[in-house]
Amino acid sequence: MACGGLLLQCAEAAKARHFKWEVSNMFWSPDGEEKVLIGINGQFPGPTIRAKAGDTIVVELKNALHTEGVVIHWHGIRQIGTPWADGTASISQCAINPEETFTYRFVVDKPGTYFYHGHYGMQRAAGLYGSLVVDVADGEDEPFEYDGELNLLLSDWYHESIYTQMVGLSSKPFRWIGEPQSLLINGRGQFNCSLAAAHTPGSNQCTTSGNRQCAPVVFPVLPNKTYRLRVASTTSLASLNLVVGNHKLTVVEADGNYVDPFVVDDIDIYSGDSYSVLLTTDQNPSSNYWVSVGVRGRQPKTAPALAVLNYRPNRASRLPALAPPATPAWNDYAHSKAFTYRILARAGTPPPPATSNRRIELLNTQNRMDGHIKWSINNVSMVLPATPYLGSLKMGLKSTLAAVRPADTFGRGYDVTRPPANPNTTVGDNVYVLEHNTTVDVVLQNANALANNVSEVHPWHLHGHDFWVLGYGDGAFPGDAGYAARLNLKNPPLRNTAVIFPYGWTAIRFVADNPGVWAFHCHIEPHLHMGMGVIFAEAVDRVGEVPKAAVSCGATATALMANDHV
Ligand code: C2O
Ligand code: CU
Repeated sequence: MACGGLLLQCAEAAKARHFKWEVSNMFWSPDGEEKVLIGINGQFPGPTIRAKAGDTIVVELKNALHTEGVVIHWHGIRQIGTPWADGTASISQCAINPEETFTYRFVVDKPGTYFYHGHYGMQRAAGLYGSLVVDVADGEDEPFEYDGELNLLLSDWYHESIYTQMVGLSSKPFRWIGEPQSLLINGRGQFNCSLAAAHTPGSNQCTTSGNRQCAPVVFPVLPNKTYRLRVASTTSLASLNLVVGNHKLTVVEADGNYVDPFVVDDIDIYSGDSYSVLLTTDQNPSSNYWVSVGVRGRQPKTAPALAVLNYRPNRASRLPALAPPATPAWNDYAHSKAFTYRILARAGTPPPPATSNRRIELLNTQNRMDGHIKWSINNVSMVLPATPYLGSLKMGLKSTLAAVRPADTFGRGYDVTRPPANPNTTVGDNVYVLEHNTTVDVVLQNANALANNVSEVHPWHLHGHDFWVLGYGDGAFPGDAGYAARLNLKNPPLRNTAVIFPYGWTAIRFVADNPGVWAFHCHIEPHLHMGMGVIFAEAVDRVGEVPKAAVSCGATATALMANDHV
């Protein structure tokens, strides 16, 4: 083990890593078109955090946006014992005001591939994100070998500002944000041109000379080595597929958990997912190869993003001779399911408890509310409060929760194959109160949206936990009778994000052993904005003292002042 059995050595090995960040708006050209985005310390994407398991990360975050608050969420980090550092506005903390600084302090306890992003309004879609990579602790080994690493943070990019997008989403009539203008790899993409124009009829060759911000991404490698590609997606909307010309990929990690290795030609990556895949540079070394990222699950109107796998000593500027590899057809769900179902826990992963104490069944539908289009869960669309839940529940503020708790189930007769018979929805807080240390199953049921014959993919992400993905099914989930039989209790993967396929269901299990208030939501930014989420308030009485800076707004601020005068 890492610490040679001596606790003292362990304590010494773990480090605190300090970062001073300033979040601000800046001009940037991620795909050649200049826009305003949200960057950190003048960079886009934000700086990469690299740490070792057990380290404490300290980020002093100054909000240098002129007129709006900000928070940053550390996606995949469970925040054990530090729920106030989860970085969710209205849930775990008050948004940081302009010119103010908030210090995030948390332990990265598990090696893996993670990222961070804004979690207030749609700030993630404005470019507020970056990579977070946790290596094994000193003296520990990864359970696979490799010679080098390549990091790929994937995103999608819109030319409209997030303000225009948000107004459209809440307007009557509704204005959808549409498909992204480009896909980005490490913050760089190509709009209205292609790096492989010779193979792409009707497109112009990109000329990026003079614009380093969108210069093609080049991954230098040596022949006959094995590389670990760390791939994460923080897209606003797009589901992605990644393929590397001529090369096989071996999947070894998903969302910071090791998986039973398997070999594929391409991988699907939904927003909120992260993977490590091993790639061996065993192809003709006189050529370079394309890395191609394309859209899945929606009819693409966005060109694939390309990067160059540069076999040294070939010149990086020598574009691959072959056409970029095609990603699978956008609607080849059989391909997607085959990939997803192959993800299983690596031997040694803790197994799930054999039974659960509670099952929460969440029907995902698109609805109408007073002429607005919403996503709703068991027919309630989530709205967030002015005062964040963590502080207000911890301080026992009475008015925090709605009088009626959201339902643990939906009507068994619901026809998932048709638009909702009752399209009208309401808004609510969707707060589920979980008892400490109970085992909770959640069944996510997909259904038809408002339009006929439309059911979309939704990647659901849980804060504060990893969960076991126990099973998937097509159609309506079988209810009590057939449920248990459909679950994999033997080697289900541990993850923090799980997808529901069109018209299907997905079952997950987790143990409510991390006191805090945790969001559980579709990771598609406009869907969350339209209410597609719930909140788990978990054993809040056991949460330690919440730092004042996290409760310095709304009713918790008022309560703090009143207490000071007692
Ligand atoms: Cu990466 Cu609540 O999200
Ligand atoms: Cu969604």
